[in-house]
Amino acid sequence: MSTEIFNAIAPRYDKTNYILSFGMDMGWRRKLLHYLPSVENLHVLDLATGTGDVAIALARDHRVAKVVGVDLAEGMLKRGHEKVARASLLSKIKLSVADALALDFPDKVFDVVTVAFGLRNFSDLMKGLMESYRVIKPGGRLIVLEFSSPRMFPYKYIHGFYLNVLLPLIGMVLTGNRAAYQCLSSTARAFPSGDRFVRIIAQVGFQNVERHELAVGAATIYVGYKL
Ligand SMILES: C[S@@+](CC[C@H](N)C(=O)[O-])C[C@H]1O[C@@H](n2cnc3c(N)ncnc32)[C@H](O)[C@@H]1O
Repeated sequence: MSTEIFNAIAPRYDKTNYILSFGMDMGWRRKLLHYLPSVENLHVLDLATGTGDVAIALARDHRVAKVVGVDLAEGMLKRGHEKVARASLLSKIKLSVADALALDFPDKVFDVVTVAFGLRNFSDLMKGLMESYRVIKPGGRLIVLEFSSPRMFPYKYIHGFYLNVLLPLIGMVLTGNRAAYQCLSSTARAFPSGDRFVRIIAQVGFQNVERHELAVGAATIYVGYKL
């Protein structure tokens, strides 16, 4: 999905997500915190931070000292900045416009890199993963939250109908932007989820890759370690 589309839907992005996920999206993002290391003073980079929900959840965790959130869409970041200010977290979170495929950070500076519902929008998935690997310290980790497809009957078919038919329709009604939600549906379908994605993360160099399914597999958290 292009930056223009994200800028266009930014004002209604949070509410639409909430409705489309039946209120589960925030809980899924908070689940990312379960996979943070159990040490203090963490420096975290949140890629494709959008309107900042993951950055805010991270900053509220006592283990996290600093969060940098980057995104290509200024409109999304503007909403994010307002939310960070409202949450009185400006001293802990820095949001900026940047391309996750060409990060302006030195090697090995972050303890953790997070990406929620962002990777499937990267124009080059491998490049994004390699950049993440580069900026993570040895001993650090990558935590990804992304849509996936339930494998079990009948969820597989209900999910297929929802993704192909209902989601573009509801998205259009809520935002007036049919293209955006048709695009969401097709990027979610095309994303190499499950074991395929585990193999891709491992190819980049991450070790001991874990996957944890949420909501019978409608979303998955992947964790990869840089040794
Ligand atoms: C579906 S939103 C997810 C936002 C947020 N992480 C969340 O949980 O709601 C995807 C975001 O990825 C961003 N994005 C896509 N490609 C990017 C890139 N190469 N670098 C940084 N951000 C990118 C888009 O601008 C958009 O804000």
